[in-house]
Amino acid sequence: MPKINQTLGEFIIEHQSSFKYSSGELSRLINSIRLAAKVVNYEVNKAGLVDILGDIGDTNVQGEAQQKLDVYAHDKFVQTLTKRNIVCGIASEEEEDFICINSIDANNQNKYVVLIDPLDGSSNIDVNVSVGTIFSVYRRVTPVGSPVLIEDFLQKGSEQVAAGYVIYGTSTMLVYTTGAGVNGFTLNPAIGTFYLSHPDMKFPKEGSIYSINEGNYVHFPQGVKDYLKYCQKEQGNRPYTSRYIGSLVSDCHRNMIKGGIYLYPQTAQNPNGKLRLLYECNPMAFITEQAGGKASNGTERILDISPTALHQRVPFYCGSKEMVNDLESFMGN
Ligand code: AHG
Ligand code: MN
Ligand code: MN
Repeated sequence: MPKINQTLGEFIIEHQSSFKYSSGELSRLINSIRLAAKVVNYEVNKAGLVDILGDIGDTNVQGEAQQKLDVYAHDKFVQTLTKRNIVCGIASEEEEDFICINSIDANNQNKYVVLIDPLDGSSNIDVNVSVGTIFSVYRRVTPVGSPVLIEDFLQKGSEQVAAGYVIYGTSTMLVYTTGAGVNGFTLNPAIGTFYLSHPDMKFPKEGSIYSINEGNYVHFPQGVKDYLKYCQKEQGNRPYTSRYIGSLVSDCHRNMIKGGIYLYPQTAQNPNGKLRLLYECNPMAFITEQAGGKASNGTERILDISPTALHQRVPFYCGSKEMVNDLESFMGN
């Protein structure tokens, strides 16, 4: 029986031994993310109060305008994981190259690497709409104690040992999986403690919400256009409802609770779509599958894609299993 008033700290300790490589290292990692999430949450919450908004005039490695809170969140997660000697390497949306922590500290014997989108949906910050953090965890493939290499990060999503997200919304939640289901924890801001509020989260098999930036409609592949027309047709439990926040974490979180599909297709200008495989799609796909949903690039399972670059993009279709199946059949599978 799930213990509804269990704290995240208690939950981590209780489940440590059920993890197959358990040595406490993964528990320390999740604990560190919990800590950084609280710090970032505090800053995100007062974004409207202090002069932290607006561009810093720099662009990130994707050439997109970078906002101050992106950098702040990146720094906090990296500092927390580095200074507390938690992992051996980190890759972030905000930095072109991965960070090799054990080249700074020769005694670093840690075996995990983390890939992170420190602030997802950042264009929503200055309009007071939910944003998030996404993280993905792998065991390194190169020997412990040596400097991490690119191959430690370029692993298939199916190799993830943990993945999760934080949603800074009307309430702040941390949702994660270590491959044995998905659990969600809600922050009580008065005392700074996450409580288990959503045990064993499951995607409804079917749903009626589709989430897509329809402004790009004319550029979508024909299969996606046809699927959208199908969604809009009156028949049975259709037409569906459209909901799009523009923050992957928030859109997927809502769809997981209510049943729905998130779509970010390829277009002529962006043949690989917009979203990044390693620190956006793979962690969301792992969580989705662990919650009984499905994630695909239109033809192939996201978690089976062999990555070739740190900031690689991929078309992304993710959500309730039946809806993703329908989408795939419209894509000609
Ligand atoms: P980020 O803020 O980390 O760059 O990610 C934004 C992503 C994703 O969260 C969101 O679903 C998508 O971009 C929205 O893109 P459009 O504005 O093109 O719809
Ligand atoms: Mn993002
Ligand atoms: Mn981001």
